[in-house]
Amino acid sequence: MRSMAGLRGALIVLEGADRAGKSTQARLLVDTLRERGHRAEGLRFPERTTEIGKLIGSYLEKKNNIEDHTVHLLFSANRWEQVPMIKEKLASGVTLVVDRYAFSGVAFTSSKENFSLKWCKQPDVGLPKPDLILFLNLSLEAAAARGGFGNERYETNDFQVQVHKRYRELMEDKSLNWKLVDASQSVDDVLKVITELSEGAIEEAKTRTIGKLWVEE
Ligand SMILES: Nc1ncnc2c1ncn2[C@@H]1O[C@H](COP(=O)(O)OP(=O)(O)OP(=O)(O)O)[C@@H](O)[C@H]1O
Ligand SMILES: [Mg+2]
Repeated sequence: MRSMAGLRGALIVLEGADRAGKSTQARLLVDTLRERGHRAEGLRFPERTTEIGKLIGSYLEKKNNIEDHTVHLLFSANRWEQVPMIKEKLASGVTLVVDRYAFSGVAFTSSKENFSLKWCKQPDVGLPKPDLILFLNLSLEAAAARGGFGNERYETNDFQVQVHKRYRELMEDKSLNWKLVDASQSVDDVLKVITELSEGAIEEAKTRTIGKLWVEE
């Protein structure tokens, strides 16, 4: 499972509210890290191609309705089903750049009425802990300037305001390596910042074992 040198890859997560540029930057970051000689691959959540992912996809497209707790658990299961692959890749020295992770799951569900942050975090406790979480920070106004909402579930202004608040609460957890990135900059400038932060995380991850998310060490 380990590469010859025994050095693992880093788990790098991109988070941020809608239209902050996560998917744009995830793609470019993988390309840039590869150009710099790293082995890097991209992942995204939800991963809509699996059986669970298909249910989530049609939920987001409003083609089906799933009870709120149930869909939260499906989003979490959609991450867990990728964990064996994630661990293998990291152990073999591949750095993974992930477009949304458990933080999105928690920020979104806990923005619904009667969902506590504590309850929402439980299903994701123990997932591979990111070595770096890049939070692409963009005001709702700046996000709106990037085009209107689509038709997917959650794509409304009031809901996004609440999601921002929840992300801020999650970022108070200092046991996680959150980096706040100004996402209002140009695509190239954001990429420069996150590339440097990623280089640092890759270096630091090499000799450290992968942690468990939201588990005291
Ligand atoms: N730095 C930037 N400046 C201006 N526009 C940008 C920037 N980054 C991305 N965009 C544009 O903003 C839109 C949203 O970008 P992108 O899809 O990468 O965001 P996202 O965070 O993945 O959104 P979602 O949460 O909806 O998946 C796209 O049209 C993209 O081209
Ligand atoms: Mg996206």
